[in-house]
Amino acid sequence: MSFIDETVAAYADAQVTPPAQHLRTVARETADELGSTVMLTGPVEGRLLETLVSAAAPQLVLEVGTFSGYSALSMVATLPEGGRIVTCELDDVRADFAQRHIDAAGAGDRIEIRRGPALDSIAALDGPFDLVFIDADKAGYVDYYEAVLPKLAPRGLIAADNTLAGGRAATDADDDTARAIRAFNDHVAADPRTVQVLLTVRDGITLIRRA
Ligand SMILES: C[S@@+](CC[C@H](N)C(=O)[O-])C[C@H]1O[C@@H](n2cnc3c(N)ncnc32)[C@H](O)[C@@H]1O
Repeated sequence: MSFIDETVAAYADAQVTPPAQHLRTVARETADELGSTVMLTGPVEGRLLETLVSAAAPQLVLEVGTFSGYSALSMVATLPEGGRIVTCELDDVRADFAQRHIDAAGAGDRIEIRRGPALDSIAALDGPFDLVFIDADKAGYVDYYEAVLPKLAPRGLIAADNTLAGGRAATDADDDTARAIRAFNDHVAADPRTVQVLLTVRDGITLIRRA
């Protein structure tokens, strides 16, 4: 998913260190078995997340929205000793698929899938979260942000995906996703507790830290 010039996007994609074989397998089987790759973070964001984990060296990562496990498996690659990733998924078919690939990658001891509504899973977790990746239903973004912020570590980071909504966030587009993302972006921008930067990477990724 990209709204930037196709030639430029293809060039940028080509400059990314190619994904590991097991991530290529996840991407291929996601298309074959789950019938969609639209929700995958893919190589660019996968490498970005992996790099954020490498730099932040988090002990606890929370992911809201597992899908087929691509982003969790990207992040686990640079997770430090003793670190763990808790990833939330509502859909059992997707959770089963992700669990299978997490086990195949030998990451079952570091990635835990919490099934059910993410807000319930977040409520049951103490934190502190060193890194949070919000990538589930867009209508829930403000609630996820509010649920994780009190449990964010002092130097913790929230990364929220799809914050440009295909570019429609910057327009007066009236579809559900554009409205939900604009509401989230406005909510965060008006929050004196945090500082944020919206990166125009792929579909937009907002990085948020405590003020
Ligand atoms: C965009 S996909 C996640 C993609 C994944 N992070 C990746 O990059 O591979 C969003 C996922 O959030 C899940 N989801 C939607 N609403 C949810 C909720 N309330 N609680 C937990 N998961 C939810 C969907 O089933 C879907 O699998």
